[in-house]
Amino acid sequence: MKIETRKSPLENLGADALVVFVGQKPEGKNNSKTKDGKKTDKPSSSKAYVEGGTKAIQAKVQTAIDEGALSGGKNETVFFRDAALAGARHLLTVGLGDTKALDHENLRQAAAAMVSALKAQKVKSVALALDSLPHNSLSADQAVQALTEGALLADYAFVEYKEKKDPSSVQTISIVSSLKAKPYDHGVEVGTILAECVNFSRWLGDRPGNRMTPTILAEETVKAAKGTKLKVNVWDRARIKQEKMGSFLSVSLGSSQEPKFIIMEYNGAGGSKRPICYVGKGLTFDSGGISIKPSAGMEEMKYDMCGGASVIATMLAIARLKLKVNAIAFVPATENMPGPSANKPGDIVTARNGKTIEVNNTDAEGRLILADALVYACEQEPAMILDAATLTGAMVIALGNTHTGFFTRNDKLAEKIQEASDASGELVWRMPLTDYHVKDMRGTYGDLSNTSSSKGAGSATAAAFLEQFVDSEIPWAHFDVAGTAWHVGDRLNYCPRKGASGAMVRTFVQIAMAQE
Ligand code: BES
Ligand code: ZN
Ligand code: ZN
Repeated sequence: MKIETRKSPLENLGADALVVFVGQKPEGKNNSKTKDGKKTDKPSSSKAYVEGGTKAIQAKVQTAIDEGALSGGKNETVFFRDAALAGARHLLTVGLGDTKALDHENLRQAAAAMVSALKAQKVKSVALALDSLPHNSLSADQAVQALTEGALLADYAFVEYKEKKDPSSVQTISIVSSLKAKPYDHGVEVGTILAECVNFSRWLGDRPGNRMTPTILAEETVKAAKGTKLKVNVWDRARIKQEKMGSFLSVSLGSSQEPKFIIMEYNGAGGSKRPICYVGKGLTFDSGGISIKPSAGMEEMKYDMCGGASVIATMLAIARLKLKVNAIAFVPATENMPGPSANKPGDIVTARNGKTIEVNNTDAEGRLILADALVYACEQEPAMILDAATLTGAMVIALGNTHTGFFTRNDKLAEKIQEASDASGELVWRMPLTDYHVKDMRGTYGDLSNTSSSKGAGSATAAAFLEQFVDSEIPWAHFDVAGTAWHVGDRLNYCPRKGASGAMVRTFVQIAMAQE
C-alpha cells in the first residue's frame, strides 16, 4: 500500500472510492447554568456532520443520517457502493466521534477502520478527502502523519508461510486537499517511515524460532541497515566470551545456535554529543532451559525477542528520518534451551562488571543477558539508556496488555517518557523501583540471585536486578513489554489481534526526536 498527497478540489478524482470523515457535534439543551456560571446539563444528543464536501456528498450523507444508518460515531464505517461522487465510484464514510476531543490516536484508529472497510469491499485506489477533517488543535501535518501511520499499521499481516496469501486489495491512498499538498508530504513521509519500521519489528517477532535464530536476526539487521547511515557490528560466541560477558554467554550454553551480540550505531549529531543507548532482549526462543516451562503456550516464546526487534526497528527509523542525534543499540541474542551444557539451577556466573550471579531459575534468563549488555552500554558514556524486554510474566498480571510498565528512579526521564507516550499513542505506566526490591535480589553464595527472595512484585524485582548493572549517574529506564509485545487484542485496531505489535518503537523514536 502506498500513501501520497494530491492537491485537487473534490471533482474528477478518478479513484475507486472517495473517503470522507463524519464527525459529531453535541446538540440539545446544554445552556442552563449554575450560579457560578458552569454549565450543568449534558448535551442530550450528538449530531453527525461532514465538514466541507460538495453539495452532492452532503446530501448523500445527510440522507443516511436522517434514516439512522449513519451516526458519525468513533470508527464507524458506512460504504455506499456506486455512489458516483466527485469522480469516484464508491463512497466510504469514517466516523470520528466528538470532533472537539479529536486527537492523533483517534485518527490512527479511524484510518485503521477505513483500511479494513476498504479491504472488505476489495477497493484498490482511494481518494481521502482531507478537507472533511474538522479543524482543531492538531496541525494538518500531524493529522496526515497519524492517518498514514494508522493505515499502514493496519495493513500489516504475517502471511509469509501461507500458500493462500490473500493480499490487501488497497494499493494507493491519495490524501486529497484543496490546499497545497507540499506541507502534507512531510507528514506522509514521517508516518510511512515509522509504520514501516514498526511493521519490520512485528515481522522479526512473528517469525518462528527456527526461522529467526540469533544468526538470522543479525543477518536481517545488517540487510535492513543497507543504504542508511547505520553501522552494524555483530559479535560471535568467541568475541562475547573475550568481552567477559559471562552472564549472557551462560544462557546460550544450552543451545546449539550460536549467540550474537548485535550493535547498531548511528551518528547524526557529530562526535561529541552523548548517544542515546537502546538495549533490547533478543531471546529468539525461551524454553525456560533446565527450569523448563509448561508446554501449554510455550510456542509464544518465539516472541521473547520482541524487545530486541523494537530496538532494532527504532534505530532504523532514527536513521531513515535522519534525526540529528547519536544513538547506539545493543541486542544480546540467544536461545534459552535445556541442552547438556545449559545453566543448572544454583550455577554461579560472572557478569562483565565482575558481579557474580546465582542462577536459581534458568527461566529468569532475560535479566542475565541484559546485565552484560547494560554494563557495555554504560561504557559508551550515554545521555540515557532505555531498555525493552519481555522480561516477566508478572508484568502481564499487573498491567494486562494495554500498558507497557516502565521503571526508572529518574523523575525527569519519567516525564520525558510520558510526553513521548502521549505523542505516540502507546500507553505506558510507571511502576515502582525501590531499595526494598533491590534487597530481594541479594544472593546467598554470589553477589546477586536471578530470582527474588520474596513473593510478588516480580517485575519490580527484575528491574531492581537490572539496575545493579547500570551506573547510578546515568538516566536509565527499563520497559517490560511482556504484556504488550504481542497478542494485544482488538483494543488498538491498527495492531494485529494475534501476533507481534511492535510496541515501543514509536515511543522510542519520539524520545530521540525530543533529544534533537
Ligand atoms: N520470557 C519470560 C517472561 C514472559 C512470560 C514474557 C510470559 C511474556 C509472557 C521470562 O524469561 C521468564 O520466564 N520470566 C520468569 C521469571 C521467574 C522465573 C523469576 C517469569 O516471569 O515467570
Ligand atoms: Zn524465561
Ligand atoms: Zn524470556
